[in-house]
Amino acid sequence: MAISEPVITDEPQYGVGDASYQAAGGEAGIRALVNDFYDAMEQLPEAEKIRNMHPADLTVSRDKLTLFLCGWLGGPRLYAQQYGPIRIPQVHSHLAIGQSERDAWLRCMQEALKAQPYATKFKKYLLDQLYVPAERSRNKE
Ligand code: HEM
Repeated sequence: MAISEPVITDEPQYGVGDASYQAAGGEAGIRALVNDFYDAMEQLPEAEKIRNMHPADLTVSRDKLTLFLCGWLGGPRLYAQQYGPIRIPQVHSHLAIGQSERDAWLRCMQEALKAQPYATKFKKYLLDQLYVPAERSRNKE
């Protein structure tokens, strides 16, 4: 009879507990990511349309996405504590988001990830995971 060995690994198990939150550098690391994300949105020509969906002053947008991602990555639920429950498709339902807007959003995140001191494996994991809420925010095409 085969006896299954316990799997012992040093690899961080992203998605388990707060491993992803820690891999992203906690709140400070996530704030740096989100700042670079919105900087990319202001600079990339393909993001101009989604930039213009946002308020002129991005201070609150930067803060809200930071607080949301802390909880979404398994860390403290800071967005919920400050603003209450959130449903990603609903907060975007007043915006016209198709494939190109979704992809522009993810492109800004890809650009921001390049500048973060994260493990290469975590950068790929995070971008793959973010596809899910980005696709759920899509409401046309
Ligand atoms: C798919 C493309 C997306 C577009 C074009 C988009 C665009 C926007 C815009 C224009 C706002 C309003 C900002 C403001 O009024 O301050 C917003 C809010 C927000 N978005 Fe997105 N978004 C996208 C995807 C995502 C994804 C994937 C996430 C999460 C991983 C996310 C999280 C949020 C949060 C937390 C807010 C704040 C909601 C609130 O409290 O009002 N968005 N988004």
